[in-house]
Amino acid sequence: MDLTLSLPGSPPRVSTVNIAAGLMGRLPESLAPYLEGRSVYWIWDEQVWELWHQRVNSLRWPGLVEPRIIRFAASEANKRLAAVEHLARQLVQAGADRLGVVVAVGGGVTGDVVGFLASIYMRGIPHIQIPTTLLSQVDSSVGGKTGVDLPEGKNLLGTFQQAQTVCIDPTFLETLPAAEFRQGMAEVIKMALLADQQLWDYLEGHSAELQRLEVESLTHVIGTCCRLKADVVQADEKEAGYRRVLNLGHTVGHALERLSDYRVAHGDAVAMGLVSAARLALCMGLIPEAVVQRLEKLCAAWNLPVRIPAEFSPEAIVAALKTDKKQLAGKLHFILPVRIGAVVERHDLDLEMLRRVLQEQQRG
Ligand SMILES: NC(=O)c1ccc[n+]([C@@H]2O[C@H](COP(=O)([O-])OP(=O)(O)OC[C@H]3O[C@@H](n4cnc5c(N)ncnc54)[C@H](O)[C@@H]3O)[C@@H](O)[C@H]2O)c1
Ligand SMILES: [Zn+2]
Repeated sequence: MDLTLSLPGSPPRVSTVNIAAGLMGRLPESLAPYLEGRSVYWIWDEQVWELWHQRVNSLRWPGLVEPRIIRFAASEANKRLAAVEHLARQLVQAGADRLGVVVAVGGGVTGDVVGFLASIYMRGIPHIQIPTTLLSQVDSSVGGKTGVDLPEGKNLLGTFQQAQTVCIDPTFLETLPAAEFRQGMAEVIKMALLADQQLWDYLEGHSAELQRLEVESLTHVIGTCCRLKADVVQADEKEAGYRRVLNLGHTVGHALERLSDYRVAHGDAVAMGLVSAARLALCMGLIPEAVVQRLEKLCAAWNLPVRIPAEFSPEAIVAALKTDKKQLAGKLHFILPVRIGAVVERHDLDLEMLRRVLQEQQRG
């Protein structure tokens, strides 16, 4: 599946997304139009390099030669400005100038860090993304958000720079640990709940195929998520308003991550946050109970948590929400489902109702 994002600006920009099992075998042809006259610098998640370099060497990816291969110890702890400086120095030492193009191969951490680096290296050079985790294939590689963390919070430094092209090959998922796959599924469920009833029905009917990593199912789900995200990003690239719908489940989710000092994994936090949003919507009369039940069942099918652990009191969660830096002008804003496949943004939350919903979600 091929997608094209058209983005405003002068001149207007386009960013393409190609999704296909086996794409890695056709990469030389796919990348050729973007590499003409440019030197390629590869920044690989070092773990992905270990797992995949023999295979991609045999596929003769363009320019895959020392010293143009830089290995990056990708982890959330290393998603920092210091890593950007370290990588930038390696680019300089490898001879990269403004005619260079960087290709990120790895998960969301690698994509965010390399995108950020590309957007500031010599005042900006183009970049290409080859995402290798489910999360990065369905979410982070599309949309142009780049960034690194500060000790004070995640993604607090960043830029918008669209990748010239995103090449997605679900084959990479063969080596992804199941626990990481599950985390990505939370974002897939979010996307279906917020924008696509058909994707939702597909997920309910195809858990087994997806768990077996059947390429047809994976390609369908990844392609649909990329198309849905591309639609949102084309409508509101810089998150002036509408792009906030992508935060469904992330309000309570972020609070749980922060309260746990990030011991709760992002996908787990999002799953619990989706259930909170749905239960709140139920309380406000926006959706019938059946939607909450279907959501909890789908999360459970992927071993994603739906109950909030007792260690996080509803009071602490509400307090954490109020200090979330992503909240606008001190107002609590929530994205809530109105049915499977559609959401609204609400600013008029009754905090007492939210507290009660969280309490019930803790009990079961
Ligand atoms: N830019 C955006 O719009 C956006 C959106 C969502 C999330 N994000 C960011 O994405 C990051 C999370 O991304 P992630 O979950 O991909 O994490 P990640 O990049 O840390 O990858 C998770 C783990 O999987 C390993 N890995 C990657 N590909 C593999 C493969 N094919 N086989 C085996 N192991 C593999 C990595 O080495 C790592 O240990 C967060 O920092 C988050 O802020 C960004
Ligand atoms: Zn997320």
